[in-house]
Amino acid sequence: MTTPSEVKYICKRSLESAKIGTDEAAAKQTGLDFYKYLFANYPELRVYFKGAENFSANEIQQSDRFQHQGQQILLDCNTLANTFDDQIKFKTHARETVHRHMTNVDPSLWSVFFTVFIGFLGTKMTMDGATKHAWTTIGKVFAEECNRYLKDLGLPTS
Ligand code: HEM
Repeated sequence: MTTPSEVKYICKRSLESAKIGTDEAAAKQTGLDFYKYLFANYPELRVYFKGAENFSANEIQQSDRFQHQGQQILLDCNTLANTFDDQIKFKTHARETVHRHMTNVDPSLWSVFFTVFIGFLGTKMTMDGATKHAWTTIGKVFAEECNRYLKDLGLPTS
């Protein structure tokens, strides 16, 4: 069995291939690439991005909204990887993510997201079995906690 600190190590290592940061080029492009990947490969998720449902890859590339959103989502993935060996922080972060999306995301998507993310990382690095397994583990615990929170709130779960 892979321990939480091994999962953390493997996921953090994979994020070296999808950097965020204060460097202008890296900070902009990786997040934009994530949304270009999501829009191209999961068109059914476009509906959640109101006003941008029909964006082309070029429109995402030019968009301040997706530039910042790209940073936010990658920053969150970094936080999840970094806290995986500290379950209280990890689970609190999962709950706050649900809270941010309260009005707009179907509960089944909490686990779907990590399939999307693993696919995206696979465009930036060679996706090996250990890395895929580590992110799948994060996604499973994350989705379980999201659903536990929804249940606590008396809301539909998946
Ligand atoms: C914001 C959709 C999963 C982190 C948003 C927004 C949408 C969205 C529509 C508003 C941004 C905009 O319209 O410009 C989704 C969908 C998901 C998903 C469809 C599942 C497939 C996640 C996950 C995380 C996350 C798993 C964390 C790892 C964020 C953050 C923001 C955000 C940090 C910015 C929130 C804010 O500005 O307060 N998401 N999201 N999302 N999402 Fe998600």
